[in-house]
Amino acid sequence: MRHLMNPLDFSVEELDKLFDLANDIEKNPEKYAKKCAGKKLATCFYEPSTRTRLSFEAAMINLGGSVIGFSDANSSSAAKGESVSDTIRVISCFADICAMRHPKEGAAMVAAGKSKIPVINAGDGGHQHPTQTLTDLLTIRSLKGKLDHFTIGLCGDLKFGRTVHSLINALSRYEGIRFVFISPEELRVPDYITEMLREKDIPYAEVIKLEEVIGALDLLYMTRVQRERFFNEEDYVRLKDFYILDKKKLAKANQNMLILHPLPRVNEISVEVDDDPRAVYFEQVQYGVYVRMALILTLLELV
Ligand code: CP
Repeated sequence: MRHLMNPLDFSVEELDKLFDLANDIEKNPEKYAKKCAGKKLATCFYEPSTRTRLSFEAAMINLGGSVIGFSDANSSSAAKGESVSDTIRVISCFADICAMRHPKEGAAMVAAGKSKIPVINAGDGGHQHPTQTLTDLLTIRSLKGKLDHFTIGLCGDLKFGRTVHSLINALSRYEGIRFVFISPEELRVPDYITEMLREKDIPYAEVIKLEEVIGALDLLYMTRVQRERFFNEEDYVRLKDFYILDKKKLAKANQNMLILHPLPRVNEISVEVDDDPRAVYFEQVQYGVYVRMALILTLLELV
């Protein structure tokens, strides 16, 4: 039985297969419409979510399966003090596969250790968000035709943004990737990530101003400042609008650059950018459903 905790749990070759399957699902949805008949997905979300939870649920329904779960820790027995380990043992009696989001780093890993069904980490604190990374990689591969030889700028909250940590990990395995980290000093990417890049001899730069580097990017990954991870509101208020991508800043960017964002957006991308053909963050959401369908089929060994 396999779980997904980190994008590195799948080899590059396995990811290629997963993305091929996701692209086939996109083209031939009817072929997959009954693949999960009789199967149940449990979504155990101890933290808020729109995309991840609902795209998992849509994915399972598109595959002919059904869905159970909770979207708020307070409506589960966690509110009475039940541990994640006990909860997953119980969920294992009801469902065939589980997607779990939790505010604590490592919670999904603890669950996987006690589970009788595959567990998917749907975001654990400021640590990892592997299915967002699968979504990001599928979007890039589908729209650019490759996952190598890019200069990617990651902009915003690189300290607390789990989508950023997972994406850097995943892209560090492809040839010719150059990272440009764009953040205020307080929200720099963690040292363990820059150490990993230095060890692997992968080029990266750290800058504060987006305008100075936007012209050199093939991909721009914008992120929101993660209010829920801040220790005090004052720091959040000071940093929340540090970056606002608007038409004026975008004028300096390459015509083929893609703008990605895991969403939700707050103010970091002006709505005037949404109509720009380079803005693909809503297409990205759609790719998230295909890749979660492919992941469910793969973990349930139905392909
Ligand atoms: N991208 C993402 O994780 O969005 P949600 O928090 O809405 O699931």
